[in-house]
Amino acid sequence: MNILLTGGAGFIGLHVLDDLLARGHSVRIVDSLRPDVHATSDWRPPAPVEFMHADVRDAAALDRALVGIDAVIHLAAKVGLGVDVSDTPDYVSSNDYGTAEVLAAMARAKVGRLTLASSMVVYGEGRGLCPVHGAVAPGPRLDSAMAAGQFEPPCPVCGETLAPAMVGEDVATDPRNVYATTKLAQELFASNWARVTGGSVAAMRYHNVYGPGMPRDTPYAGVAAIFLSSLRKGLAPQVFEDGGQRRDFIHVRDIAAATVLATERHMAGVRAFNVGSGTPRTVGQMASALAEALNGPPSIVTGKYRLADVRHIVADSSRLRAELGWDVKTDFSSGMKELAASYDH
Ligand code: UD1
Repeated sequence: MNILLTGGAGFIGLHVLDDLLARGHSVRIVDSLRPDVHATSDWRPPAPVEFMHADVRDAAALDRALVGIDAVIHLAAKVGLGVDVSDTPDYVSSNDYGTAEVLAAMARAKVGRLTLASSMVVYGEGRGLCPVHGAVAPGPRLDSAMAAGQFEPPCPVCGETLAPAMVGEDVATDPRNVYATTKLAQELFASNWARVTGGSVAAMRYHNVYGPGMPRDTPYAGVAAIFLSSLRKGLAPQVFEDGGQRRDFIHVRDIAAATVLATERHMAGVRAFNVGSGTPRTVGQMASALAEALNGPPSIVTGKYRLADVRHIVADSSRLRAELGWDVKTDFSSGMKELAASYDH
């Protein structure tokens, strides 16, 4: 297929590009090489990949980029929790206005297949199991409780501590920070577009992606990259809360494979796919695995917290396995060792 890949110069984008090329697709990349992510604007892909140095908010550039294209993989976005609330306009503009322009341009060009990078953060705290009330949407984590070291979100009915539960795609969405809201809005705009154009959308709800080339030393870096940077300076990873927050760390090559399979195989309708390894770890465990692999100082549990963080978020990715034939190829321990060994990306 002829594929337009937005954000193709980014961390996930480069791995998606590799996978697309290995599977025989022709690729055109649109990337703005935004300076808060890319150190230089000199990046160019290998031939024969076409490259347009443009922002997805540039409608005229998109019209040119979509000529002859069969499907779009839309990864270009501003990620992470950001610096503070002053980042909000840029998140909304980059992610939502950008997606609106992509969708409008796809409609003009009559390109009807979209694979969208969404996120597990659209579920907020996801689901927890109350011993009395069963599966519930966890209540809010109050600043006062977190300051007192109570990090578990309570049962919203009785306040009991909740046991973990895997989140399927049909769990209600509940974005709890600006980034999460922009990701959910992207999905909704894409769904609105599909309804009127008859297009198809695969919304890939990625879990915590790690691997070679992770963005680092920026306010938008994920926790694995932050820990890696500390360890490489000989410093102990600083683990927030009590280190017991659960995530599903998934290797970027597995994320790329899921994205490419969805682009090839999802042909009709709007479908969300969780993309997680299915083997959750705590942030504390991840810090220890990296510290061990790098022979660095053991991690320090700081008790600090960020109000916008969710406590646990773990995916049930069985839909992706069953419907698209995807499977995890890199497990946590070999992936962490590989990450530790990837000295300078
Ligand atoms: C991450 C991604 C987000 C993606 C989501 C999918 C980043 C910045 N965020 O969000 O784009 O959509 O996964 O699930 O890549 N922590 C520490 N020490 C630190 C920094 C963070 O302990 O120095 C903890 C945080 O408190 C949090 C956890 O690590 O509990 C994960 O934080 P982070 O990597 O920022 O990501 P998510 O919010 O999970």
